[in-house]
Parts: sequence; C-alpha cells; structure tokens
Amino acid sequence: MELPSSQLGTKEYWDAQYEHELANFESHGDIGEIWFEDSVDRLLEWILDTDLITTQSSIIDIGCGNGAFLLNLAAEGFTSLHGIDYSQKAVELAQAIAAQKEMNISYKKVDLVNCNEESLAIEYDVCHDKGTYDAVSLCPDDPSSKRAAYMKAIHRMTRKNGLFIITSCNWTQEELSEQFSDYFIVEHIIPMPTFMFGGKVGSRVSSVVFKKK
Ligand SMILES: C[S@@+](CC[C@H](N)C(=O)[O-])C[C@H]1O[C@@H](n2cnc3c(N)ncnc32)[C@H](O)[C@@H]1O
Repeated sequence: MELPSSQLGTKEYWDAQYEHELANFESHGDIGEIWFEDSVDRLLEWILDTDLITTQSSIIDIGCGNGAFLLNLAAEGFTSLHGIDYSQKAVELAQAIAAQKEMNISYKKVDLVNCNEESLAIEYDVCHDKGTYDAVSLCPDDPSSKRAAYMKAIHRMTRKNGLFIITSCNWTQEELSEQFSDYFIVEHIIPMPTFMFGGKVGSRVSSVVFKKK
C-alpha cells in the first residue's frame, strides 16, 4: 500500500518552507514549526528513562528541520548530537538556532534517499525520525523505491544493536513494524495521545523504538 502523494513529499515544498522560517527566525527569533509537538514530551520521557541510551550516546536526527528535537536533548545534557536534512535552508536554520542558544550540535545537508556511501559511513547509537519517513512516503515520484532506499540507509547508519526511533502520523505501529521488519525488531512502543493532521481529528501518531537486528 502507498499513501496518496502530497506536496509534503517534495523537496521544493520543504525548501520554500524553511526559506520562510529562516527569514522569520532572522527577523524576530521564531524557530518555526515543531512537527507532532504533542509527541515530544513522551519521546523525551522514554529516552531519558531507558537504560539503552545515555547522555554519551551518539544520536542523529533524520530530517531534523529546525533541530528543535536535538535542542531538547542538548538541554538534557546529551553531548553527541547530529542532524541531517535534505533542505539547505533547514540546515542553515538549525545551525542559526543552535548558535544562538550556544548548543553544540552538528548539522549537515544530506538527502537520505539519494546519497553517496560517504554520507552513510558513520554509525550512530540512535537514529531518530519524527515526520521524515512520512514525508518520504508522500513523495509523488516512486514512493515505494524511496521508502526502500530510506530503510536501507537507516539500517546502515544504525550501529549493531543500536536503536531507531520513529514517529509517524501516516503509518500505524503495525505497519511500521512490518515495513522495517527486514532490518529491525520492535523494542518498545511509546504510547501517544490522539492528534490532528490535515483537518482530520482522531488519527494517532505512532512511535516505535526498533533495535537493529
Ligand atoms: C514533517 S518535517 C519534520 C521535521 C522535524 N523532524 C520535526 O519533527 O519537526 C519532515 C522533514 O524531513 C525532511 N526530509 C524529507 N525528505 C528527506 C530526505 N530524503 N532526506 C533528508 N531529509 C528529508 C524535510 O526537509 C523536513 O525537514
């Protein structure tokens, strides 16, 4: 099954979005949209509580946008934080916000579904995704092969027995578990509140913690 395509699955959409958000940040300090904001506290709570992750764990946020999730982790004392996004303006925005807040977070422009070996050379203890697999899945051009490339790349970037934490509003926890089953096993399901997206009330955000096989 594929999702109906949407402009949220195009790079043009995100480039325009972050160009606008960067201009806003520069003019009045607004850091911009935080996707699925209601899920953030529960995600952080799980990350802080689990003994599978420490403040020294290397964590990469895939499709980091403005980097808000990493800022939360930096504020909690995490020291090895990295973000990638395929939109150059997102990377510039995230860098500008981190610099203003004097947070030490590295950011890089990488298109995860279309990148070279070098971009996947480093393995991380934790790969985190909030809304990016959703965007990849909404791509108007061959979403199935884009999703396959995404999964392969995530698998490469996660160290053996490392974690992949994904939050999605388009796929259920069962669908995520099934789609990633070649590479990962489910470690934990993070319970999430109901959410509103695209005018629909009652759809749920799913957050799944996977462990690399
Ligand atoms: C729904 S937003 C989520 C942003 C951020 N993770 C958050 O939770 O606020 C999706 C993000 O994925 C990024 N993205 C989409 N496809 C990507 C790809 N192939 N490689 C890297 N980033 C991608 C977009 O630029 C955008 O920042």
